[in-house]
Amino acid sequence: MQKTRAIWLLDSGIGGLTIARAIRHRLPGLSQHYIADSAAFPYGNLDAEALIARVCDLITRAVATRPVDAVVIACNTASTVVLPALRARLSIPVVGVVPAIRPAATASRSGVIGVLATPGTVKSAHVATLIERFAGHCRVVTVGAPNLATLAEQYWRSNTLDGDALAAELSPLHDPEWRSLDQLVLGCTHYPLLREPIQAQLGGHVQLIDSGDAVARRLEVVLGDSSLTQGDSSAGRFHVTGALPVEAGFEARVRAEGFGEIVTCAHDPGVPLFVR
Ligand code: DGL
Repeated sequence: MQKTRAIWLLDSGIGGLTIARAIRHRLPGLSQHYIADSAAFPYGNLDAEALIARVCDLITRAVATRPVDAVVIACNTASTVVLPALRARLSIPVVGVVPAIRPAATASRSGVIGVLATPGTVKSAHVATLIERFAGHCRVVTVGAPNLATLAEQYWRSNTLDGDALAAELSPLHDPEWRSLDQLVLGCTHYPLLREPIQAQLGGHVQLIDSGDAVARRLEVVLGDSSLTQGDSSAGRFHVTGALPVEAGFEARVRAEGFGEIVTCAHDPGVPLFVR
């Protein structure tokens, strides 16, 4: 019998579900186990050193508990800083998320593009390098949105959205200087959850680009197993650090994303990862 192939995915919350969906779409035969590190949400508030220590600790314990074929850091904020340290600790492939600056710059007709991400991602050297390498011919507005990931969490959980709060996060994009913006990079995995409301506020002339399919394609190459493009994997576990959200419908929503059991896991360094 063929061994089940599986990955661990990690995000600070439910944003990584947008990556999980893209992976499930491309590689339905792959099992996914998810860590929503909600006890440390938002990652945008952690400094690089704390983020590296936390993510390396969680993932190395997760892999020790449940060995997998690869790890996906389904979070731009974490990917901009933790990948080298994590790769040095693991012997399996680690795939990260890169803001889709290259495709946005290639697709732009006006030569004006935007990058919407957490404040941490926007000020990272990684994003500066991507802009320099791939968008040198464009004018680029970067917007570090302090509360957008939180709005996305609320929207996914309760289907309610404070339109004024969303408008405040997007307001730098309405500056007349960026009137001809035609491509906007959704540089945080939470933001595709707000795709429709963001599109409605910016208008149909702005194309929103996320990294979900690019991550799924990269993972397909890394795993090199064409059988994963077919079939139906066994449902993986969804782990939440800290307390499980209590609102009605949370579990049903997680299951609808293709996950099975929902469990809490310990997150203090030195404590075994899973409580059950
Ligand atoms: N989903 C995460 C990202 O892609 C960030 C949200 C947070 O700040 O925790 O950047």
